[in-house]
Amino acid sequence: MKNLILFTSLLFSLACQQTKDSTNTYYKEQHRPQFHFTPEKGWMNDPNGLVYYDGEYHLFYQHYPDSTVWGPMHWGHAISKDLVSWEHFPIALYPDSLGYIFSGSIVVDENNTTGFKTGEEKPLVAIFTYHDMVKEKAGRKDRESQGIAYSLDKGRTWLKYEKNPVIPNKGDADFRDPKVFWHEATKNWIMPLAVGKKLEIFTSPNLKNWQKASEFGLKESVNDGVWECPDLISFKTEDDTEKWVLIQNIGRGAVNGGSGTQYFVGNFDGKTFTNDNSPEIKLWVDYGADNYAGVSWFNAPNSERIYIGWMSNWDDYANLVPTSTWRSGMTVPRKLSLNKTPEGYRLVQMPVKQLESLRISSLNIPKQKIKNTLRIDNKSVLNELDLTFDLTSSTATELGFILSNSKNEKLIVGLDKVSKQIFIDRTNAGKSDFSSKFAKKHAAPFTDDKVLTIKALVDMASIEVFVNGGKIALTDLFFPTEDYTKIELYSKGGNAELTSGTLYPLKSVWAKK
Ligand code: FRU
Repeated sequence: MKNLILFTSLLFSLACQQTKDSTNTYYKEQHRPQFHFTPEKGWMNDPNGLVYYDGEYHLFYQHYPDSTVWGPMHWGHAISKDLVSWEHFPIALYPDSLGYIFSGSIVVDENNTTGFKTGEEKPLVAIFTYHDMVKEKAGRKDRESQGIAYSLDKGRTWLKYEKNPVIPNKGDADFRDPKVFWHEATKNWIMPLAVGKKLEIFTSPNLKNWQKASEFGLKESVNDGVWECPDLISFKTEDDTEKWVLIQNIGRGAVNGGSGTQYFVGNFDGKTFTNDNSPEIKLWVDYGADNYAGVSWFNAPNSERIYIGWMSNWDDYANLVPTSTWRSGMTVPRKLSLNKTPEGYRLVQMPVKQLESLRISSLNIPKQKIKNTLRIDNKSVLNELDLTFDLTSSTATELGFILSNSKNEKLIVGLDKVSKQIFIDRTNAGKSDFSSKFAKKHAAPFTDDKVLTIKALVDMASIEVFVNGGKIALTDLFFPTEDYTKIELYSKGGNAELTSGTLYPLKSVWAKK
């Protein structure tokens, strides 16, 4: 068959790998991600305390080790040297008499502004939210406050500050998720904090004494959702000016349903963030349903802005997805940059380059016209797919690719040229009975009319799609009852002109040492 591409040696090597691994059950449960971060067991939500220090990327995370549903929040901990493979470390922060340990950040206190330093090692300081359940149960609004803890041994052990909380609550029910950074121009620590449906910015010389400097966002709020997990990030643009992006997670009312992440582009003067755009302009970090609470690493090498999100949807089904011993994973780490467009500066994101080390091999899909379907005969269920279509000579009304299995469950990623939308359709992707909000199609506006490039990362139960160099991202979960082993490119209503294509089968990062 003309359109059948056979790669016998690859199939053989993958088959061998499967046999070799069949006695190993570690990270092999159904739907268990193979190259995304997941906790060994129990519940996980937001990434916390993202910090790079002394050759190590730390990933802390909201964690309830005793159950696969949300509960008393701890900070779980993992470390990576390359953002690809992760080593689990013991729980870093446990709930105490002031409350559960909600989301927050970690900074390197380079100049020992806290005075915590005792030896050679620079203090790592965690700034987090305490959530007091006793107060919550008593119906009190002043239940959230900000606390700090520090480590003098590269994040291995943590001591809570004896004078916590450093910011008490003055009566706001939602008062959380400090994401602190150092502002060299004003020699201050800056803390963006989510307060109800807006942002408050606090400043401090020493991470202990904080002053409120400004507020932002009441006009910008999507009305249904509280703001959570902000991140204020500076970028050097191509013309060497400094611009600021405020990443703002919102609990409800996101573009494709439930929780999601907006961003604003503007300026920050050390106290106040100002939006370049008028409040009606809504910019979204991700158009899928499953990327929430994402923030960036403090102190990443070469001033890179590296971001990671929690791959689920708080408002719609986070506690219900059909996994067994653990619940939830993170997105892949993504490099963020800011591009100048005729409409203004816009965020661009792509998987970090280091992930290329996951590629086992590379299958070339030659330039050709796709009429109906083109089967790529590949048995790997972990894949990176790069496709480029020439849209000016494609006559199709719809084109893209389909992942499927022998049960006819399928996930479609496509461009609808008529409605000018790029989409992931998981309506018939497998299990969906756990939530009526799951079996849906998620779309993003797509206005480029010459070229479509797609980079897709496919793990056991998730897909991340980066369109036209990362100008659009869509992240969705799916739960097939049998692995997707079939990949087809497709066109409808005419031909699709594939200019180039490559499929990279990927390896797992969770093989037990
Ligand atoms: C976001 C969030 C945060 C909070 C944490 C609690 O997903 O609701 O606002 O700190 O999760 O686990």
